[in-house]
Amino acid sequence: MAGSSVEELRESALAALAAATDLEGIQAARTAWLGRKGPIVDALRSIKDVAPEERRSLGLALNQLRDEIEATLGERERRLEEEAMSLRLAQERLDVTLPGRPRAVGGPHPLRMAEAELVHVLREIGFSVAQGPEVESEHLNFEALNIPADHPAREMQDTFYLSDLPGLLLRTHTSPVQVRAMREHAPNPLRVICPGRVYRRDDDVTHSPVFHQIEGLAVGEGIGMHHLKATLYEFARRLFGADVRLRLRPSYFPFTEPSAELDVGCPFCGGKGCRVCKGTGFIEVLGSGMVHPHVLREGGYDPARCTGFAFGLGIERTAMLHYGIDDVRLLYTSDLRFLSQFQGSEA
Ligand code: PHE
Repeated sequence: MAGSSVEELRESALAALAAATDLEGIQAARTAWLGRKGPIVDALRSIKDVAPEERRSLGLALNQLRDEIEATLGERERRLEEEAMSLRLAQERLDVTLPGRPRAVGGPHPLRMAEAELVHVLREIGFSVAQGPEVESEHLNFEALNIPADHPAREMQDTFYLSDLPGLLLRTHTSPVQVRAMREHAPNPLRVICPGRVYRRDDDVTHSPVFHQIEGLAVGEGIGMHHLKATLYEFARRLFGADVRLRLRPSYFPFTEPSAELDVGCPFCGGKGCRVCKGTGFIEVLGSGMVHPHVLREGGYDPARCTGFAFGLGIERTAMLHYGIDDVRLLYTSDLRFLSQFQGSEA
């Protein structure tokens, strides 16, 4: 085979290659032209038939042609792959500059924030935290607290009794923990608080059948009403501010004698009188008193030697005062417009 035939081979190869416009065509052209049964290999095999002095240049020319075909196909292939890639990139474009979808992050409920703050302040004053069960014995909820079965005070706290469990009920206040704590500590002095859920059978616009209280109790020798007043005033000032208006008003509870309620100046009207304080300028925050001797005895203390004071406050009420919430139902209806106002703020 002569040099001119190599040139002819080259021309028909390049023409065939020009027609290969997709990856399949290129692969077919590669097999056809460079394969073991292709014209190049054929030609290389026939080198031995030409004159010895031409063999070298013919071999060289054929090898060059093979390289050229390979390079052309490779180049064409690369270009097609690049085009396919740019097409994919354009079609599957992901706009990472779009703002992300914000993920809602929860936060503590204002009721829990208020509870945490109340507990914090009371711990600072020197109380430690005690626990009691929500399903309580009738005895500890009532009798031990000087509320006998026929006492009209039972009607103050309309009760959920557990019909399958005689003698048990859902505690109507946290006061049974007074007796539990005393029985644990007697005859030693003690200062405890107990935050928790309580249940009463009323359900109207200002009452929920479930609400929250914190009980406080201090028992020891020589504890008097002055300790009660000083403790409650200190507590209220730490919570509401040093210049808060306070009032200790005589009251009645079967388990304390004497009894008093603590009122805080109404933050909604500044004392002028409004709907929330029912025109009085004050809002009641807690009940309190000197622990009744009957209760001290139930707890294992000798009332001749030890005295004590107790208080119980409603967390809902305190949260409302603290955060300026004028409707208790807002604390239960899970309205995010309300709840989100407390996001990020600490109690
Ligand atoms: N247990 C009373 C109530 O629920 C509050 C209270 C507690 C009063 C301790 C005096 C002493 O209303």
